[in-house]
Amino acid sequence: MHRLIGAGLLGLALLPLSALAERQSLNEGWRFQRGDPEGYAALLQYDVRPEIRQSADGKVADARPDEAEKLQRPADGLLKPWILPSGNAFVADPARRAQRPSTDPAVAPPLLRADFDDRTWRAVTLPHDWAIEGPFLATGPYGGMGRLTTWGPVWYRKKLDIPARDKGKSIFLDIDGAMSHASVWLNGRLVGGWPYGYNSFRLDLTPYLAPGGSNQLAIRLDNPAESARWYPGAGLYRNVWLSVNDPVHVAHWGTVVRTPEVSREAAKVELAVTVDNDGKEAAALEVRTQLYLLNEDGKRTGAAVATLPAQRVTVAARGSATVNADTRIAQPRLWGPLPRQRPHRYVAVTTVSRDGKAVDTYETPFGIRSLRFDPDHGLFVNGEKIMINGVNNHHDLGALGAAFNVRAAERQLQMLQEMGANAVRMSHNPPAPELLELTDRMGILVMDEVFDSWERKKTPLDFHLIFPDWHEQDLRAMLRRDRNHPSIIMWSVGNEVGEQYTGEAGAAIGTRLVNIAREEDPTRPITGAMNYAKPDMALPATVDVISLNYQGAGIRSLPGQFPGFHQKFPDKMIMSSESASALSSRGEYQFPVPGVNSAPVRPGVGGDPKRQQVSAYELFAADFGSSADRSWAAQDQNPYVAGEFVWTGWDYLGEPTPYYGARSSYSGIIDLAGFPKDRYYLYQSRWRPDLPLAHLLPHWTWPERVGEVTPVHLFTSGDEAELFVNGKSQGRRKKAPYEYRLRWDYVVYEPGEISVIAYKDGKEWARSSVKTAQAPAALQASADRGTIAADGRDLSFITVRVTDANGVTAPRADQRIRFTVEGPGELVATDNGDPTNLESFKSPERAAFNGLALAIVRARPGQRGAITVRATAEGLRPATVTLQGR
Ligand code: GAL
Repeated sequence: MHRLIGAGLLGLALLPLSALAERQSLNEGWRFQRGDPEGYAALLQYDVRPEIRQSADGKVADARPDEAEKLQRPADGLLKPWILPSGNAFVADPARRAQRPSTDPAVAPPLLRADFDDRTWRAVTLPHDWAIEGPFLATGPYGGMGRLTTWGPVWYRKKLDIPARDKGKSIFLDIDGAMSHASVWLNGRLVGGWPYGYNSFRLDLTPYLAPGGSNQLAIRLDNPAESARWYPGAGLYRNVWLSVNDPVHVAHWGTVVRTPEVSREAAKVELAVTVDNDGKEAAALEVRTQLYLLNEDGKRTGAAVATLPAQRVTVAARGSATVNADTRIAQPRLWGPLPRQRPHRYVAVTTVSRDGKAVDTYETPFGIRSLRFDPDHGLFVNGEKIMINGVNNHHDLGALGAAFNVRAAERQLQMLQEMGANAVRMSHNPPAPELLELTDRMGILVMDEVFDSWERKKTPLDFHLIFPDWHEQDLRAMLRRDRNHPSIIMWSVGNEVGEQYTGEAGAAIGTRLVNIAREEDPTRPITGAMNYAKPDMALPATVDVISLNYQGAGIRSLPGQFPGFHQKFPDKMIMSSESASALSSRGEYQFPVPGVNSAPVRPGVGGDPKRQQVSAYELFAADFGSSADRSWAAQDQNPYVAGEFVWTGWDYLGEPTPYYGARSSYSGIIDLAGFPKDRYYLYQSRWRPDLPLAHLLPHWTWPERVGEVTPVHLFTSGDEAELFVNGKSQGRRKKAPYEYRLRWDYVVYEPGEISVIAYKDGKEWARSSVKTAQAPAALQASADRGTIAADGRDLSFITVRVTDANGVTAPRADQRIRFTVEGPGELVATDNGDPTNLESFKSPERAAFNGLALAIVRARPGQRGAITVRATAEGLRPATVTLQGR
């Protein structure tokens, strides 16, 4: 929620909102450099860091977190005292707020100065992830964080030209995310910063700025090594803004919209507006708000649907005040998740006036919807039961790294929606703000989560180091930023935290976090994901919704925990915040295939440790997880369960369980490049029961298997099917209760064609077939979108397929493909979805992985016209695709 700028959702062009308050993109024109100037490193640290005595790489995800180490702090030489005050707005108890030291830190590297020559530094545009281009680290304990170097200090510099007319204005720097431990310097002075890399934060530049000239901004980031269990990304990886305001203005994230009464006939809308007065005199103000309907693109439509009563308030000098008003909207258009409901949105447009003159306007998009969390029947949105068919996603965008890109995120969500998903858990940290604008617009339910660890650590230098000082600021910041998003249905204060193991002491921390979250938002339930805590332990009692990771279906040899929790907490809704953790590499099939429907990956049974690939029969899972089939059986046997968030929707960088020599995960339903694995169709068969679907596996090109048993599995939304090999029936099979696939385990391979007719309720429902491919002969290219905006941000994702002479996909092809781009466009990255591929994502060449490769292309900013993308490979007919940059 912020000043909505003409750009709308995509944020493609950024225009000043009005003469009143201006929010300018600061994404252009940065210089970037790795490393601190010699001799300065120790003096520029945020805080002391313990030595890494034992690497956590490859530690199983459900291992018990460890106790934090006790740190000896030197008396000086750390920047923490100047950084802590940046979080003061989020500390409730005035006695806990930090005082800025009376003098500036005694460290002033020359690069802070305006006359420092940074021409040898790299020119970069934000969002920028400096780590993603690699090189990958082929050996060593780096798998957990994606085999890319993300750690060590870096600097960004930029000049800010502030016109003289802005003298007297309040000027803020808004950083949507900086990975991590940001310290921000302006004109040689330390302004402040923010350690946690996933939160958005605002710094007041006003006292350090000289309007009427050029001001030197310098930002230092310092990611620790072993700070995450996944790839964290690195750099100014989200948008950065300059916000220029009248001293009297709506506070940062200063509005709260609530809709306490919702029906089809009418809705009550309550709005609280907090106004800051940074001036030296008290200000008598009037605050007015009108409500408008937004269209699908996030633009206002028609006249105001309601006007809130105008409020008068006097705000003391250097003070703030909050006004509250409410109104009713008749026949409201409700926000609800697709496909069952529609995601209608409104916007509250607030004007603050002083002496009859408007000094600020502020837009708060919101939605009207009611939520009910029923312990026996699950989630109800606007009175309708909605099964949570969700996925977990990490924040990286595959080959683009952590650098946020709206189109890449939209593509992820579109593919998930196409599969039938209606919910996303932001595992395990606050997302980019634009991602929540997307989930609002696209009608996707969200579980917004703040931390992966509290006081106990999972990796040596993770968030636990700053938890004691920053948990309140980070938690409140996330809630204040995100609380008006209709897509968010619940908050999570943590994931599998070590405090599950520490009884009452751990629960006390849980209670503190839950209470903080409740203060910021009493309208949504608060949860925390638990993989260990059992019903009679202390932690589960502290949360509103019981969120279980894997425990529902049962972890390892433990029995399923749904019934025990349901019995112990008959008043709390229960669901899986993580289910499955099924593993596979797209297009890899290994033999023999076990007869069970869920199995851990073992050498020769689902896993090939040499090639570091996991079989795509979609039966295999992490040791603590289970196949999709087994998770569904547990859900269906316990129908009070509200649904699940699968681990994970997309593959992500890092955490390559079970093969830590790889770069990216095996758990995605969709691979890192965006190619659906077979599992995609398994989920689709359940989540879109009305879609006639029959998906056969494996592929049918096995020259070395003639005469060998080669099991065939079918994922179908039907309930019965007959399989044929070269026209010969292999028998008609029917799903038994709690079975979610059909399998023919004794099919003997012969080249040709396998085909299937699926039935539902005895009637033909869907057909499909798979043919044996001949030798690879050609490339085929297709773009997800043929026209893209010529703004340097919009993207086209181009899939290249290796086929035989008849156009049949060659399912094991691994030819090297070379991409070239002609016209006003450029290649951004390439990938193939192979978790073991350690070639830089920037490479214009990429071997096909099981027949597929991906190129990501953008149009050069401001340059329209035809962009030709060409794919060539030795011995294969080349392919081209032409895009229009507009
Ligand atoms: C869970 C954890 C996730 C991820 C997953 C891997 O235990 O919460 O973050 O590590 O396992 O399968």
